[in-house]
Amino acid sequence: MWCIVVAAGSGSRFGGAKQYEWLGERRVLDWALADAASVAPRRGIDGVVLVVPPERAAQAEPTASAVVAGGDSRSASVRAGLAAVPASAEVVVVHDAARPFAGVDLFAAVVQAVVEGADAAVPGIEVVDTIKRVAGDQVVETLERAELVAVQTPQAFRADPLRRAHQGQPEGTDDASLVEQAGGRVVVVAGHVGNHKITTPEDLERARATLGATSTE
Ligand code: CTP
Ligand code: MG
Repeated sequence: MWCIVVAAGSGSRFGGAKQYEWLGERRVLDWALADAASVAPRRGIDGVVLVVPPERAAQAEPTASAVVAGGDSRSASVRAGLAAVPASAEVVVVHDAARPFAGVDLFAAVVQAVVEGADAAVPGIEVVDTIKRVAGDQVVETLERAELVAVQTPQAFRADPLRRAHQGQPEGTDDASLVEQAGGRVVVVAGHVGNHKITTPEDLERARATLGATSTE
């Protein structure tokens, strides 16, 4: 089993490379790397590929097995990571560096679902807001909330369907959507409500506050 941690984004909504900001005593991306690596004792992880902005590709990252330069989109960065995963890998987990609080249990849960036969497994949490589809400022329709989940990473895949889904350089906001489009069977496991993605500076402040609250308990 291999894990790809994608950290090659520019953080346009954050205003900089959020994955290199400090969160407690390590950088944001180190939390994701640590989770990925600690799946090892439970699941025999073989390696972690870290995908970084091209200008950071020469920077040493001792906790990663390989460091590669990412692309212009998240999907392109995942493909760059996938190219560095050995052909022998049977399960590949893809995780956003911008999600520091996923936790090892969530990695174990998505991997387990794939080991049990799914092509892909994603963490999903209940949606609390009413979600509408819009065109500009016009509402087109209101989606049935009971049928919706908000999807996170880590996402686990059988390597073959993931590689096939990425053929032809498709674009998607996650990898499971590409596997779905290719006809694969994607299952949802219970996500973790604390597994927020850091998108804005406020998200990082919140993550720091969460950490402060936890460590002084
Ligand atoms: N990512 C990547 N390569 C890209 C774009 C995104 O590896 N070309 C990674 C980010 O580093 C992040 C994850 O994909 O860990 C999720 O992306 P997102 O939260 O959108 O981060 P950014 O693309 O950096 O932020 P923004 O969209 O605000 O520019
Ligand atoms: Mg982005």
